[in-house]
Amino acid sequence: MEYAVLVIIHVLLAIIIIGGILIGRTAIIPFAGKSGNADFAFNFDKAFSRGSHAALTIQFLVGFRLAMLQLSMGDWFTFESSMSVSIVAKLALWVLLFAWTIIGKKMKLNDPETADLSGLKKYYNVLTIFALALLFFGLNMRLALV
Ligand code: HEM
Repeated sequence: MEYAVLVIIHVLLAIIIIGGILIGRTAIIPFAGKSGNADFAFNFDKAFSRGSHAALTIQFLVGFRLAMLQLSMGDWFTFESSMSVSIVAKLALWVLLFAWTIIGKKMKLNDPETADLSGLKKYYNVLTIFALALLFFGLNMRLALV
C-alpha cells in the first residue's frame, strides 16, 4: 500500500514538474515571442515557480523512499543494475535541477525587470534538459534501457 501511494504521488508530481517545464518551453515562451507579449511568459513563470521548491523537495523525499524500497541503500552506488544507475543519475539530476532554479534566479534570467525573453528561454532550455533526463531515468527503472 505504501508503495502504491508513493508511486502515485511521484508520478503526479512528475507530471506537474516535467509538464510545466515543457509547456513553458514549447508553448508559452514561443507564443509570448510571436505575440510580442513577454509579460505573458514571465507571469507564467512566476505562477509556476510558486511552491516549486516545496514540490521538488516532496518529490525528492518520495523518490528517496521509493529507491529504498527498490534497492537496499548499500547497493545504490554499485552501478550493477539499471535501478542503481538510475537512482544515482536521478539524485545528481535532482541536485542540478534544484541548483539551476537558484542560479537562474540569481542571474535574474526570469526577472522581467532585467531579463528579456531570450534570458527566460535560456533558463527554460536548461530546465528542459534536466526534466527530460529525469523522465528518461525514471522510466529506465522499469524499462532497463541503460
Ligand atoms: C524532479 C525530480 C524527479 C522526477 C521528475 C522524477 C520522475 C520520475 C518518473 C517519470 C518515474 C517513472 C514512474 C513510473 O514508471 O511509474 C519515476 C520513478 C522513480 N523515481 Fe523519480 N523523479 C524525480 C526524482 C527522483 C529522486 C530524487 C529519486 C531518488 C533516487 C527518484 C526515485 C525514483 C524511483 C525509485 C522510481 C521507480 C518507482 C517504481 O516504479 O518503483 N526519483 N520518477
